[in-house]
Amino acid sequence: MIVTSAPGKLYIAGEYAVIQPGHPAILIAVDQFIRVTLEEDFEEGSISSYGNVPILWTRNNDRLVLDQRDNRLFYIIAAINIVETYARELGKKLGFYHLKVDSELETNNGKKYGLGSSAAVTVATVEALCIFYKITVSDEQLFKLAALAHLKINNNGSCGDVAASVYGGWIVFTTFDKSWILDHDEKTTVTELLLKEWEGLSIKSITPPENLKLIIGWTGSPASTTRLVDNVNDKRIANHTSYKEFLKNSKKCVEKMILAFKENNINEIQNQIVINRELLVNMGNDLGIVIETPLLRDLCNIALKFNGYGKSSGAGGGDCGIVIFKDNDHLEELISEWGNCGITYLPLKVYNKKGDNIE
Ligand code: PMV
Ligand code: MG
Repeated sequence: MIVTSAPGKLYIAGEYAVIQPGHPAILIAVDQFIRVTLEEDFEEGSISSYGNVPILWTRNNDRLVLDQRDNRLFYIIAAINIVETYARELGKKLGFYHLKVDSELETNNGKKYGLGSSAAVTVATVEALCIFYKITVSDEQLFKLAALAHLKINNNGSCGDVAASVYGGWIVFTTFDKSWILDHDEKTTVTELLLKEWEGLSIKSITPPENLKLIIGWTGSPASTTRLVDNVNDKRIANHTSYKEFLKNSKKCVEKMILAFKENNINEIQNQIVINRELLVNMGNDLGIVIETPLLRDLCNIALKFNGYGKSSGAGGGDCGIVIFKDNDHLEELISEWGNCGITYLPLKVYNKKGDNIE
């Protein structure tokens, strides 16, 4: 039996701007995982995923529509297809297997925390299939395979979540030129795409200052990143000048934050968290999109009372907020005040090294 796992992630800074090549973001991998087990069979295969997790749907006029970008089964199948295309290119014979997916990235009744479950399931499935077909891949190749699979289902994101899940720890991520990859995807083999340099892509590990404490709060209301990013994409054209300014300022802010990581300067990291929070709130206001919900605002404002500097994480609209502290001195009070207004402290840790194995 093959068992793989991939961790969830959280954005620390640089959201939305990171969708454009050349604009960095900082992310972490968290110690909550999606596990994929694969058992060989000889005449049939199966996929069981997420027990009774609800499948999301919306309405388009009166028609019920399933958004495949919010349905993780599509990511699993895309991951299988990309590795099997690669396996065929390498001359491997395709087989049968039973694939089972378990996830710690949602509550027991299937509510998402916003920890990047579609990226993690794609990474863990790609890795299980690579092991099954005896294909050795580097982290970079695993990222590329998972990103290609992810883009087939949802091409409006940066793939920063895929990078955090593959590399673990704290990373600085800058995305690649997607149009170039999507264009080449039609005419180029997977083997060639893995060998090519992906224009603009950069993934680097960074080390946080020793005393930095990262605290995570959950609003309890799941948000759809894909819908929020669609909204921003629709509206940023009409707000071209202010969005351009946002991109410039986000880049400047994340670059200063990266420097502060290198200099072990927690005060400056906190300053830049405050600036990135403001940039995201203002960009949302300009475009008429709620990134910092009232509960995310409470999360940040309560943390401020204890000298914690916070912001929404990722697309916002719900999900999680992150707070940077210099120490853990007021954690109990923070958890209790958060609890009083409906925010759950998530005792997550940064995940540093993958623990995959073959049983
Ligand atoms: O909400 P999350 O944690 O999935 O983060 C989305 C971050 C964005 O920059 C808004 C989109 C992306 O894919 O980078
Ligand atoms: Mg989110």
